Amino acid sequence: MRMVDIIDKKRNGGELTKEEIQTFVDGVVSGEIPDYQTSAFLMATYFKDMTDAERSELTMAMMKSGDHLDLSSIPGMKVDKHSTGGVGDKTSIPLAPIVAALGIPVPMISGRGLGHTGGTLDKLEAIPGYQVEISEDAFIEQVKDKGLAIVGATGNIAPADKKIYALRDVTDTVDSIPLIASSIMSKKIASGTDALVIDVKTGAGAFMKTLDDSRELAKALVGIGKGVGMDCMAIISDMNQPLGNAIGNALEIKESIDLLKGEAPADITDLVLTLGSHMVVMSGKAKTLDEARAMCEKTITDGSALKKFGDMVEAQGGDRSVIDHPEIMPQAKYKIPLPAKASGVVSKVEADEMGIASMLLGGGRQKADDKLDYAVGIMMNKKVGDAVKEGDTLLTIYSNREDVEDIKKRLYDNIEISDSAEPFTLIHETVR
Ligand code: URA
Repeated sequence: MRMVDIIDKKRNGGELTKEEIQTFVDGVVSGEIPDYQTSAFLMATYFKDMTDAERSELTMAMMKSGDHLDLSSIPGMKVDKHSTGGVGDKTSIPLAPIVAALGIPVPMISGRGLGHTGGTLDKLEAIPGYQVEISEDAFIEQVKDKGLAIVGATGNIAPADKKIYALRDVTDTVDSIPLIASSIMSKKIASGTDALVIDVKTGAGAFMKTLDDSRELAKALVGIGKGVGMDCMAIISDMNQPLGNAIGNALEIKESIDLLKGEAPADITDLVLTLGSHMVVMSGKAKTLDEARAMCEKTITDGSALKKFGDMVEAQGGDRSVIDHPEIMPQAKYKIPLPAKASGVVSKVEADEMGIASMLLGGGRQKADDKLDYAVGIMMNKKVGDAVKEGDTLLTIYSNREDVEDIKKRLYDNIEISDSAEPFTLIHETVR
């Protein structure tokens, strides 16, 4: 079978067979298919899409390209959560300890930042000593012993995705439903979780900008998961403005700790409790979402979730004193306020541009091998719907360079103040 014929078939909108998809994935992993042909295939897929059957075949072929983690030695129903990526989205960091504090094992395999979106692993590495790369055995032992772990993909999980992902990033083929769905689900199926809650982001800061596309992605993800017997559901949550107030690695760890102390902004707290409630119901520990939410809230008020977070940090080599002393994380030299130029109501805060601003300050990577500055980022002082007076601080720039005129311009260009704002909806839909 020639790769050029497979590309031709997809380019002309044909439906690929299982064998053709397997040939593509095998060739990518072995290196037999050159990057230019993989790129052409990805672009053809981007434009012509895939049927449900093709999406499932691609996911399974990518999943089988590497190891399958065996979590069966961990007692109980293992529940994981995955987000399609956003700005200020630190939900995994407080969510894992909340759910684990209820006795539900949380083996979480997370990713790094991508483009304007942050990554859980990068954020956790702002904590001095925290190791995200631990062996498969150590990962399983930690989940058995402490009830949770947040790590990077261990060993050889879905190597086809690693290659394809790197090419998608540089060929502008990231925001494709079949490619996102197969990328996420191949890793999640390979990581051996029993149940999965997916947080599909929608809006300016998400890969899927419209509710229709986000819904289609959510259905594709859930359909693939259910097809392999995984208990799987998705929520679609808003990513037009940043989630919470903090954007940037150390700043987001501090906000995650605040959440576990019951002191975080309402939107991020609500999203974490919503995702947590679904995870608790899926685990069988609660019958209704209301009951599950009350259980999650209690782990915050009784301090058990904060203790779990400390246990995880310590088990992974980090300094748990970060809980009471966030200043042990890197601190920015300059805190520069951005004053409002007019009075009114904040009507728009473009999440992707806030993410890009944080990246340009050094908080994210512009090239794959860029070193991160954990201290920098943005703290939102005002969000959509807040009233402002001219001169009020809209946000604070945390920087290690004094001159941030370029950043200020970008931020001003992407925050609107009007007479009124559309009502804000955090959770749009649930997809089962
Ligand atoms: N996260 C992934 O793992 N893959 C994608 O394609 C997008 C988000």
